[in-house]
Amino acid sequence: MESIQILDAKKHVGETVQIGAWVANKRSSGKIAFLQLRDGTAYFQGIVVKSEVGEEVFQLAKNLNQETAVLVTGEIREDSRSKFGYEIGISGLEVVGESHDYPITPKEHGTDFLMDHRHLWLRSSKQHAIMQIRNEIIRATYEFFNKNGFIKIDPPILTGSAPEGTTDLFETNYFDQKAYLSQSGQLYMEAAAMAFGKVFSFGPTFRAEKSKTRRHLIEFWMIEPEMAFMHQEESIEVQEQYVAFLVQNVLDNCDYALDVLGRDREVLKKYTKLPFPRISYDDAVELLQKNGFDDIQWGDDFGSPHETFIANSFDQPVFILNYPKAIKPFYMKPHPTREDVVICADMIAPEGYGEIIGGSERAIDHEYLLEQIRAHGLDENEYSWYLDLRKYGSVPHTGFGLGLERTVTWLSGIEHVRESIPFPRLLNRIYP
Ligand code: 4AD
Ligand code: MG
Repeated sequence: MESIQILDAKKHVGETVQIGAWVANKRSSGKIAFLQLRDGTAYFQGIVVKSEVGEEVFQLAKNLNQETAVLVTGEIREDSRSKFGYEIGISGLEVVGESHDYPITPKEHGTDFLMDHRHLWLRSSKQHAIMQIRNEIIRATYEFFNKNGFIKIDPPILTGSAPEGTTDLFETNYFDQKAYLSQSGQLYMEAAAMAFGKVFSFGPTFRAEKSKTRRHLIEFWMIEPEMAFMHQEESIEVQEQYVAFLVQNVLDNCDYALDVLGRDREVLKKYTKLPFPRISYDDAVELLQKNGFDDIQWGDDFGSPHETFIANSFDQPVFILNYPKAIKPFYMKPHPTREDVVICADMIAPEGYGEIIGGSERAIDHEYLLEQIRAHGLDENEYSWYLDLRKYGSVPHTGFGLGLERTVTWLSGIEHVRESIPFPRLLNRIYP
């Protein structure tokens, strides 16, 4: 008899198979027991009929506790009433690991309780669905960049540089030197682009941000492509194609997860249409001011109510172009005809999910960059390797960073970024 994963049920209809699973829930009458089972790939129903299995197996099934691990044997059948679409008619049942007083019961639990039990909460159907969407976004990311001639390069996690400003750095000792946990792999990716042309990274990044919002994590994963011989307009096209590709793949490959999450496919389909709208920072400020936001002046950074208002003015993700130089990092390319703005774009997700991409064309002039590094109070010795890139065949180049967890949160349609990563690191939380 074959051991299978229930996700492959379609290929085994009518066959008798064995599946290792956990009991998520159960109900029973005098003659029949319905087990809600989870095998890691999906949730499905197991049906135990007393007249078919006999008294002993039936009693065993009826008395299974939540999260008991079992090996079930039985026939795979179609089940049109369930979300998943297949069930198993159980003929044999073996307990592998007992479970007593599982803390997460089908009743409602508070967020703190669930967060304290994140190691168990991950087993629930909603969390399961979110992680499947996360996995699909990661899979589709590799597919997109491999297909488009990018090579994956892994920047270091322990670094001496601070590309995104010095206020939210995680400092650590590196023997007798100081080091930081990476805020962004960008500067290293620029070196890689000069070596390989088109590159992308996917890795963890760290920001000691004192923000307690539904969009901020302390540890999050970023995808950072960097492209040599490329200007900003072209980078924006890569960005919109990439994001539309992610949405299309979630639509194509995450049917079950989208059902569990109750995510409206018609809404997601709008995000596969190109191009995405673009608005300049200047026009965005004007739009806000005209609509009663008197707290915003030219030069200010947008907060989340501002981003949400701008996003709601369009029904796709929107690019905000060319922010004031003073509120952006040192490496961005200055505007050719304006002193006060840089050549950059943020992509703001619809439905209030905030900024999912930050990117820019990079300054390529050695003297300008050196001046910016000094003006931002950074130690130029730490950046001499980076400045070297502007000495030996400096070319126009551009790149961006997509925040994985914000993208997962958005495409899953969930409330808070803490559910988009298996073990979230939040202000005040490093357990479990
Ligand atoms: O806009 P950011 O800071 O851009 C950079 O780090 C650039 N160096 C990227 C590049 O050009 N290579 O961050 C990029 C994205 C944001 O748009 C957001 O999606 C995500 O990273 N992000 C966070 N996600 C969760 N929690 C946080 N604290 C985040 N900070 C940024
Ligand atoms: Mg940003």
